[in-house]
Amino acid sequence: MRTHRIAAIGGDGIGPEVIAAGLQALDACAERDGGFRLDIEAFDWGSDYYRRHGVMMPSDGADRLRAFDAIYFGAVGAPDIPDHLTLWGLRLAICQPLDQYANVRPTRILPGITSPLRHVSGPELDWVIVRENSEGEYSGVGGRVHKGLPEEVATDVAMFTRAGVTRILRYAFEIARSRPRKLLTVVTKSNAQRHGMVMWDEIAAEVAREFPDVAWDKMLVDAMTMRMTLKPETLDTIVATNLHADILSDLAAALAGSLGIAPTANLNPERKTPSMFEPIHGSAFDITGKGIANPVATFWTGAMMLEHLGERAAAARLMRAVERVTADPALHTPDLGGTATTAQVTQAVCEALRGDN
Ligand code: NAI
Ligand code: MG
Repeated sequence: MRTHRIAAIGGDGIGPEVIAAGLQALDACAERDGGFRLDIEAFDWGSDYYRRHGVMMPSDGADRLRAFDAIYFGAVGAPDIPDHLTLWGLRLAICQPLDQYANVRPTRILPGITSPLRHVSGPELDWVIVRENSEGEYSGVGGRVHKGLPEEVATDVAMFTRAGVTRILRYAFEIARSRPRKLLTVVTKSNAQRHGMVMWDEIAAEVAREFPDVAWDKMLVDAMTMRMTLKPETLDTIVATNLHADILSDLAAALAGSLGIAPTANLNPERKTPSMFEPIHGSAFDITGKGIANPVATFWTGAMMLEHLGERAAAARLMRAVERVTADPALHTPDLGGTATTAQVTQAVCEALRGDN
């Protein structure tokens, strides 16, 4: 029997609710598969931990995670603690030292879900967004001087390294190559930002030569929002910087029906360190504790985790179960216009897993 060691970090808000649901579905999946088991260790890191200890996680937190095969993460953020403290204290404090430099965000319209785009029924929108996850606009370089004074200055410096840009572009070309359409769109803003973004364009052209079988094109990020909305069928794999892809992927999630179904993986493609799997959404204070958080994003990211762990059959089975459940509007949570609860959706997915051949 194969054993995979998973670190589960529910975090804040609805994070612990959706991770509990996700673990239930993963357990049902492992049971149905019979070939592997998940050895779960839960960590209570997050804003409650911060209120008790003054830090979001212990100082050796990221190092402790190295012993695991994967990390299953909920969300981080609390109304009473500044977001930059919670984000940098937990999520980025894990992603950066573990060098999870590729953030992969598949987007498609699951059965039963209605896109806000009038002419899109499903097949026209099937994308993978690859987000640079280790540098760029979120490198953390910058500072503030003369705090609170009239002459106060604040800078955030976007750091782009040849090594960092090359590795994410190469990874994106590889993802594009692995998909039927073999089509990559490289997003920058190289008209206005004439240093880092121009380097991106140049490196894209260089890396493209290694992938003669992949068709690729370039878009400016502002025009990209229009293309995603008006011509979704012309896109397949998309690669962009940390900031740009962060924004575009929220748009993608909305176009696919709800933030509550959008998954993501923070990958170290070389597998030197564990990768981290999480729903795209945040802690959703407005619905915390109500039992109505949509667990589908967490199930989908669980399927991505299984695939990463080499459990391809189980990953496919979990997605089939999720799709059988989303196809039934009676099992939609309120974000999708329904009345179902987290528990009902979770139970339905577990039942679909048990009934899957
Ligand atoms: P959010 O994603 O938490 O919520 C945005 C809206 O989407 C809310 O109306 C919420 O109810 C809804 N929503 C999100 N996930 C849902 C789900 N699974 N089911 C049903 N509805 C769902 O984003 P917001 O409000 O901007 O941020 C709240 C907190 O979360 C902040 O502290 C922010 O920093 C943090 N955050 C953390 C992220 C992470 O941990 N990766 C990502 C985004 C935000
Ligand atoms: Mg975001």
